[in-house]
Parts: sequence; C-alpha cells; structure tokens
Amino acid sequence: MSTLSATACAHPNIALAKYWGKREGEGNVPAVPSLSVTLAGMTTTTTVTFDGALASDELSLNGASTDGRPLARASALLDVVRRDAGIDARARIVSANDFPTASGLASSASGFAALALAAVRAAGLDWSVTRVSDLARRSSASAGRSLFGGFVELDGGDGATGTSASVASPSALDLKVLVCVTTEAAKATSSTDGMLLTQRVSPYYPAWLQEAPRLCAKIRAAILAGDFSTVGEYAEKSALAMHACAMAAGIVYVSGATLAALAEVRAMRADGLQTYGTIDAGPHLKCLVRGSDAAAAKERLARVPGVLRILETSPGDGARILPLAE
Ligand code: PMV
Repeated sequence: MSTLSATACAHPNIALAKYWGKREGEGNVPAVPSLSVTLAGMTTTTTVTFDGALASDELSLNGASTDGRPLARASALLDVVRRDAGIDARARIVSANDFPTASGLASSASGFAALALAAVRAAGLDWSVTRVSDLARRSSASAGRSLFGGFVELDGGDGATGTSASVASPSALDLKVLVCVTTEAAKATSSTDGMLLTQRVSPYYPAWLQEAPRLCAKIRAAILAGDFSTVGEYAEKSALAMHACAMAAGIVYVSGATLAALAEVRAMRADGLQTYGTIDAGPHLKCLVRGSDAAAAKERLARVPGVLRILETSPGDGARILPLAE
C-alpha cells in the first residue's frame, strides 16, 4: 500500500468553566458541562502517515521517539479511524508543541485534537468536525473542545453525549490570556488519575457536581452578553471550586508560585485592572485580562517570584489541516 498522510495543527483551550470528573459508562463523557476558550499563540502540529511498511505505530513527540502510555493512547485513537476507513497499515505520528508538554498547559487537548483531525484526513475520511471532536474527546475530554475556535461548550452529566459546540466566535470578548509558566517539568498526577481519585474519595465531589453546571450556565450567559467581568469572576470561582474539590482528595496541583501569581491578579483587581485567575491540572496560573489592560498586567505578573515566563495568548481558531509540504 502507498502511504497516506495529513498534517493538522490545533491550539490548546483553557476552560473558563472547568470539568472535573467523568460520567459513568463508555465514551469518556465528563460528569459536568464545561466551557472553554481556544487559544491562538500556542500550537501543536501533528503529521499522521499510514505506511504499509511499518510493523507497529510509532510516535515522535517533540523530536523524541515515545512509547508506553502516550503511544498506547494514540494507537487506540488510530484503531477507530482504521476500522472506519478499512485500513490495516500502522502509522507514523510526528507531533510537536511550541509550549511545555504535560504540565497543565492543556497539551493533551491540542495534541489529541490535532491527532484526530490528521488521522481522519490521512485515512481519507470525510467526517464532520463534530464527529472528529467526538473522537478526540474519547482520548482526552478537553480535546473535543479544541476542534472548535472561540468559546466552546462541552456537554456533560446525566444524559449528555459529550458533544462540543461553538458558543461564540473568538471576537465575542476583548480577552487576553496571560499564561504564567511556573515550571517546565511534567506534572506529577495526570488529570485522568486526579479525577478518578477525586471521584472516589473527595467529600466535596457531590457539591462540585451540583455547583459546576450553575457556574457554566452563568459563564455562558455572560459571554453571550459580552460581560467581561462576570465571565472573569465566575471563571475564577470555577477554578477554585475544582481545586478545592481535588485538594480534599489529597491532590495539589498548585505551587507557591501559582498562589503568588493569583495573589497578584487579585491585587491588580483591587487596583482597578480587570484581571481574573484560572488554574488547570498543573501549577501555571492563567490570567484573564481585558486587551487594554494586558500590557500592564503582564509587567506586574513578570515580577512575581517563581513566574519563569509569560505567554500572551488570545481567543483563536479551531483545529485545521495544513497543506502538504512539497
Ligand atoms: O480532559 P483532560 O484530561 O484534558 O482534563 C481536563 C481537566 C481541566 O483542564 C482541569 C479542566 C477542563 O475542563 O479543561
């Protein structure tokens, strides 16, 4: 068989309304709805090549040949594509991020979004973006959101199918996200393991299941109303509620630098800048800020001890196929 190849790029997304926890049953469907913004300024680029000469799937991640769990997860996704396309060939996956991998910077979201789109197109399948998003979600739930640009909702909870859909375009809010990088190291507890433990032992998990949908609805309405400060206020509440729930299970993703950066975000707010903080399953603090306040906020955050560097990002587009290199 000849080779079949496609290259896709995707951006990470940051949840404004977090999901944490999975619904029981198949399909990797979140236990609560979530709402994210897709971020231009950080990119994963992935090429998938189905090649009849390969004995097994191969994965190169940021220039290093990788096996174990990352390769097994990628192969599971490829198997779904192979089944639908009637392809037997194994594939070579070459993927690179232009930002730190596996440290709570949502590299799994952009990674599986780019992988799903590249694999589907390399196999010659004409799937809708919703179907590609569904495939990506089965590997990493937040990845389903990165197929879409702007503000994106992923449904979750009883009766939900885990479908992602666009809520508003990238220009719906005058938003910058300042990603305060506090380590280049990989995180100690994966989000999957952290969620499983939270669901099993956190005494606050039932309260989170009640609260998260309310926070998500509030954020959705505020985005549609163009109400920046309500979006920020509830995004910060959502992140803190999620971390409180995880911490009660013994899982701590934040570091001293994360909390110092959050304190600075709150100090800036007291000084009249429109800044809000959010934190994912890692120690980086993401500051949500109005475009007009971004430069001042960046300058102050850069002086916080433990903040190594700051990535400035804005709402961006969904995953897309890149033209084949000559
Ligand atoms: O689906 P995962 O394994 O990438 O987990 C994502 C978890 C959070 O980033 C903390 C929340 C979210 O909704 O993205």
